[in-house]
Amino acid sequence: MVNHLIVDLKERSYPIFFEKNFLQLPEVIKEKNFSSKVLIVTDTNVDQYYGNQVQQLLSNNGFEVDKFIFEAGEQSKTLNTVSLIYNECLKYRLDRNSAIIALGGGVTGDIAGFAAASFMRGIKFIQVPTSLLAQVDSSVGGKVGVDYKGSKNIVGAFYQPMLVYMNINSLKSLPKREFISGLAEVIKHGIIYDYDFFKYIEKNVDAILGLDANVLKYVVEKNCIIKSKVVQKDETEQGLRAILNFGHTVGHAIESVSNFSLLHGECISLGMVAAAFLAHKANILDLNDWDRIVKLLKRTGLPIRIKNIQIEQVYKEMLKDKKQVDCKLKFILPIKIGEVLQTTDITKGDIMDALEYITSPE
Ligand SMILES: NC(=O)c1ccc[n+]([C@@H]2O[C@H](COP(=O)([O-])OP(=O)(O)OC[C@H]3O[C@@H](n4cnc5c(N)ncnc54)[C@H](O)[C@@H]3O)[C@@H](O)[C@H]2O)c1
Ligand SMILES: [Zn+2]
Repeated sequence: MVNHLIVDLKERSYPIFFEKNFLQLPEVIKEKNFSSKVLIVTDTNVDQYYGNQVQQLLSNNGFEVDKFIFEAGEQSKTLNTVSLIYNECLKYRLDRNSAIIALGGGVTGDIAGFAAASFMRGIKFIQVPTSLLAQVDSSVGGKVGVDYKGSKNIVGAFYQPMLVYMNINSLKSLPKREFISGLAEVIKHGIIYDYDFFKYIEKNVDAILGLDANVLKYVVEKNCIIKSKVVQKDETEQGLRAILNFGHTVGHAIESVSNFSLLHGECISLGMVAAAFLAHKANILDLNDWDRIVKLLKRTGLPIRIKNIQIEQVYKEMLKDKKQVDCKLKFILPIKIGEVLQTTDITKGDIMDALEYITSPE
């Protein structure tokens, strides 16, 4: 059996494979024993690099393969794209034993997963994530969905895939800015759960940025282990899973206010700086750890300050967040690197100070 990790969710358990090419994909799908009909869902960018290769590989190995391609980008994460996928499923006569394969980044995984979760009340779903963000974050955990009327991920489901297959080397074609953006979630996982992993990133930043395949494989695997540990303990976000939202309360608001001109990870980096600032100011996080967090983000090339944004507007946007508790904003704050707490006990004044900090010059 090729190198894999099992995400243990009882009858919804599934393996994640870590490979350096796509070659084992047909074999690991076959082991799952379902009908041989598959629909690859991918976007216009990823299709250019890997669409034909994966389609050929599967059809050479006895699969009946159809492909649906949508315009790359968050603006495609809509019910309209989902409905186009349903059309393809009907045209191609997929049944409950067929599978949808998401080949691409987080946008592809979220849309294709939502289509798989809802078409015929759920058909088989396979994730083949190709962006760093998708490999270390969105393909693990089973959240799928689309944006609706300007609200991000507001329509969706929890739907676990049958398997996840990662080709680490597919990250080589990812634009540098997208790659660095994905590193924000990697660093987040270290801060919320694993001090040793944070130290590993500090030590290996250059190798990571240089796309060293062995270092990247370790980083991706370690991330999936951390995320799956959290998800295994709390699949549907009743408690612990909320720690994955570290940096996201402020990050999501900046993402909206900046009209999605910044990438997700860039906003999360700013959000993590804001949350760490709140923690440090409240004497929860010591000076040394605060310093290390900001320094590491900066070394990877992630933004730690932002210009030209209205902080009142960011605050207003935060209040719209669907993760509020009884109208109070929930924050995940680091108490040291590797451990966080959840709190709703932050005043507007403190929040404005943190926003002031991330919008002031360095
Ligand atoms: N489901 C979850 O738990 C979860 C978690 C975090 C984020 N998300 C969602 O994920 C999305 C962001 O994911 P993303 O950053 O991967 O966005 P994305 O899917 O748009 O990919 C980013 C860009 O990189 C391109 N790309 C992807 N892989 C490539 C490759 N190997 N080579 C060349 N280009 C490639 C894409 O075409 C796109 O232009 C957001 O919609 C976010 O809401 C979901
Ligand atoms: Zn995120």
